[in-house]
Amino acid sequence: MHREITKGIYFIGVDDHHTELFENLWSIPFGVSYNSYLIVDEKIALVETVKGPWSEEWLNNIRELVDPEKIDYIILNHMEPDHTSSLPDIAALAPNATLVYTPKAAPMQKSFYDVPLQEKLVEDLEELKLGSKTLKFVHAPFLHWPETMMTYVVEDEVLLSCDAFGSFGALNGKHFDDEIDLRLIEFESRRYVSAIITSYFKFVQRALAKVKELGIGIKVIAPSHGPIYRSDPMWIVGKYDEWTRPELEKYCTIVFGTMYGYSYRIAMKLKKALLDLGVVVKLHNVSYSDMSMIITDSVRASVLVVGTPTYDAYPYPKVWGFVNEVQGKRFPVNTIALFGTYGWGGGGVKRLQKIFSDMKKEILEPVIRVKARASEEENEQIKELAKIIADRIN
Ligand code: FEO
Repeated sequence: MHREITKGIYFIGVDDHHTELFENLWSIPFGVSYNSYLIVDEKIALVETVKGPWSEEWLNNIRELVDPEKIDYIILNHMEPDHTSSLPDIAALAPNATLVYTPKAAPMQKSFYDVPLQEKLVEDLEELKLGSKTLKFVHAPFLHWPETMMTYVVEDEVLLSCDAFGSFGALNGKHFDDEIDLRLIEFESRRYVSAIITSYFKFVQRALAKVKELGIGIKVIAPSHGPIYRSDPMWIVGKYDEWTRPELEKYCTIVFGTMYGYSYRIAMKLKKALLDLGVVVKLHNVSYSDMSMIITDSVRASVLVVGTPTYDAYPYPKVWGFVNEVQGKRFPVNTIALFGTYGWGGGGVKRLQKIFSDMKKEILEPVIRVKARASEEENEQIKELAKIIADRIN
């Protein structure tokens, strides 16, 4: 199916209800959409393709509007395969089309696909006339790959924004912001930003500033995943701004693992002590919380508390996995508190101390290490740590 966004600009994307994990990492219980757009003017431009297994459905969406052979330009805002793995299929049907992308995208296209089409490398803010419509290409590097750009339709003030302003969640025929419950979109787009773009928050801020400086009107924002914003495009711009600002939020997140409940008891005691002190607390047990939710709830915390049992002289494996995310995604959180339990060894917390100091994070004292059950003295340490955390946040 297709939907008209404005005269001559069409949504031709697809819903994915099959993939269990986006990037084989992030759960998508509501599915996801791969958005692609067709601009029909004197020249015909296709903006973005879709993930390979959805090629047939997508090609049929194109055929509802035009013969694919008549496509003049295939504009690739981003080379990640969820946007491009149908490229060989459309290249075979549109042999006269020219690929349009940034200079950084060209070698990526060749290494992924090397389709036998002409290419046009566009500089930042370069324009391409289609007839009555003009496309302006706005380079937006590291959203979230180096080659990313947005495509702006000048006369219609439509911004085809690539991954920026995207969201998890299939569309199910409700393609526009005024057709959807925005509470679900807010939840799913924040989870999307946190899971996919955390390493690149500063580039989101740069792109927002750049679009503002350009002074262009924006009537519609059409991202590559999730709904199209035609009713209130500034709503999602404001949310992305809020979620990627350098200022941290005034809450504490406790992320912990537990095998037999001893670390769990410390987590609960700490949570209670923090709540008693008026601190907003988010808490995740790594054994059952989804990693994308843990990241969403911890990435902008003022204080991150990590708790672990010792497992084979190391932190509990799922805690270890989370700490890898903190490091790999370059979490902006600077202040860490640590606790852990052990039966006979006790290397778990010590290794966490080393990792977080290597990351140049501040580790609050006391670091709590408990052999099996917490003693009275250790329970007092938990309260003391809660006070120190509260002082940092309140
Ligand atoms: Fe939607 Fe970066 O892929």
